[in-house]
Amino acid sequence: KRVVIFASGSGSNAENLIKFFHNNDNVSVIQVLTNNPHAKVLDRCKKLNISALSFNRVAFSKSEDILNILKIQKPDLIVLAGFLWKFPKFILNHFPNKVINIHPALLPKYGGKGMYGMHVHEAVVANGEKESGITIHYVNENYDEGAIIFQEKCEILASDTPQDVASKIHDLEMKYFPKVVNDILND
Ligand code: GRF
Repeated sequence: KRVVIFASGSGSNAENLIKFFHNNDNVSVIQVLTNNPHAKVLDRCKKLNISALSFNRVAFSKSEDILNILKIQKPDLIVLAGFLWKFPKFILNHFPNKVINIHPALLPKYGGKGMYGMHVHEAVVANGEKESGITIHYVNENYDEGAIIFQEKCEILASDTPQDVASKIHDLEMKYFPKVVNDILND
């Protein structure tokens, strides 16, 4: 099974997935794509010897460039791991039920455009939430709205800062994302 990952930033989830499936007979991460030429994920891929390339907005949302790469790579699953752009319908339509995303909160709360990174954890703390968590869901043409595949919660203490929440969420992502991807591909 072939996995393509889209990322925009640090790429700790991408790296975690690549390592998890390294030497796996059934699943392999064959390509990482990013919209950010300075994304740290590019360095991580170089070290891990995974093909990675960056693209601009025209290549992604206006032209068929990225769609054509995906048509050649023929992924069984497209994984958005910290990818900040909305996935265009013309690409989604070629990969029905094959594009998933991970969101660092318990959707449908704390989702949508602009709700990413620390913004999410700041909002959760500001609202005095007693719990947060991760959501893995199918991607549709709107931010963070596709069918939910998996959620896992973590407790938030009154003393927790947004950074404390971010690290609890990160631990959940590292622990569960590869297992959920593996389950989807082995169904
Ligand atoms: C993660 O919190 C993920 O849930 C969200 O963006 C962040 C990506 O982090 N979509 P990284 O780039 O994988 O380190």
